[in-house]
Amino acid sequence: MDPSRGADLSSRAVEPLEREAQEVLSPAVFEYYRAGTGEGISRDEAAAAWRSWRFLPRLFQDVSRVSTETELFGTPLAAPVLAGPSALHTLAHPDGEAATAQGVSQAGSLLIQSARAGRKISSDRWWFQAYVLRDPSITEAQVRDAAARGARAIVLTADAPYVFRSAVPEAGSAAPENRTPGQQQDPSLSADAIGWLAAVSGLPVLVKGVLRPQDAIACVEAGAAGVIVSNHGGRQLDRAVASAYALRPVVEAVGSRVPVLVDGGIRNGADVLTALALGASAVLIGRPVLWALATGGAEGVRDLLRFYRDDLARTMAQAGVPSLAHIDDGLTARESVIPGPSA
Ligand SMILES: Cc1cc2nc3c(=O)[nH]c(=O)nc-3n(C[C@H](O)[C@H](O)[C@H](O)COP(=O)(O)O)c2cc1C
Repeated sequence: MDPSRGADLSSRAVEPLEREAQEVLSPAVFEYYRAGTGEGISRDEAAAAWRSWRFLPRLFQDVSRVSTETELFGTPLAAPVLAGPSALHTLAHPDGEAATAQGVSQAGSLLIQSARAGRKISSDRWWFQAYVLRDPSITEAQVRDAAARGARAIVLTADAPYVFRSAVPEAGSAAPENRTPGQQQDPSLSADAIGWLAAVSGLPVLVKGVLRPQDAIACVEAGAAGVIVSNHGGRQLDRAVASAYALRPVVEAVGSRVPVLVDGGIRNGADVLTALALGASAVLIGRPVLWALATGGAEGVRDLLRFYRDDLARTMAQAGVPSLAHIDDGLTARESVIPGPSA
């Protein structure tokens, strides 16, 4: 694309969208979506951690055209920006996940549908996020159903042995807090679940919630086709390290073998480019998708993903990066550690 064109920055930036969403959502639902656990330390520092990296732009690159296109597990993507799994989209919009999936497809992106979704979807651009439940026959049925309905991969969320969040009043029986014991996550989950899910679904399995390089290696050795660096948007273990700092060591451990994805506090094209420079193959967006769905339905989600794509293209152009293949790890450094002449 021509980087001087594209969605208007000011009207599509994420911060005003959150304020608009607060206007249209009930206080209980807005707070459920926005919340982190504990003191909210991990939730609050996620975005700032991305912003502590600095670019070292390259000169004399032809950036009259910039391409953000890529592909993951055979699905072509307009940009390496996916809608991550989040529960209960029906609290944001009556059509829930069906509207999200529509907007995602229109933007040429991909939806990771939460196991705690309010609606089933039909799309050829989706992966299914699974929890292994205390009653694994429930998980098995969910995963088989997802595969039959066209999911292209399974994302095993491994960082949520327990859910301690307070109840969502309006969620009714769909609320995660109202689950029977068999429907709760299995707190004895092991890496053996990766091979089991792959066998049951016939699909590649990615593990979400990885922060340590050793865990990433264990996932790959157990058959994971990819890992997602994440602290669950600061909703599980407060004070879990920011994904912007955990990413590079995980890439160094397994990035040559499998794609490494990342999420948490990614709010504009500069955040996306930083993640890619640190070795991510793609990023996931959490809360902003909910704000876009609440305020604009399917179109809102489509426009949000286009904003990320266009803002990434603009940032790539200024950084001297005409395509994702041109990104190298010299493109970014911590604010305080700018490398010397050998870099
Ligand atoms: C309201 C809400 C519900 C979520 N539900 C799930 C879920 O069901 N499964 C899961 O793996 N992650 C879930 N997450 C975590 C997101 O997938 C993601 O890791 C996180 O939100 C990314 O950070 P961001 O919101 O700052 O972009 C949820 C996040 C939010 C905000």
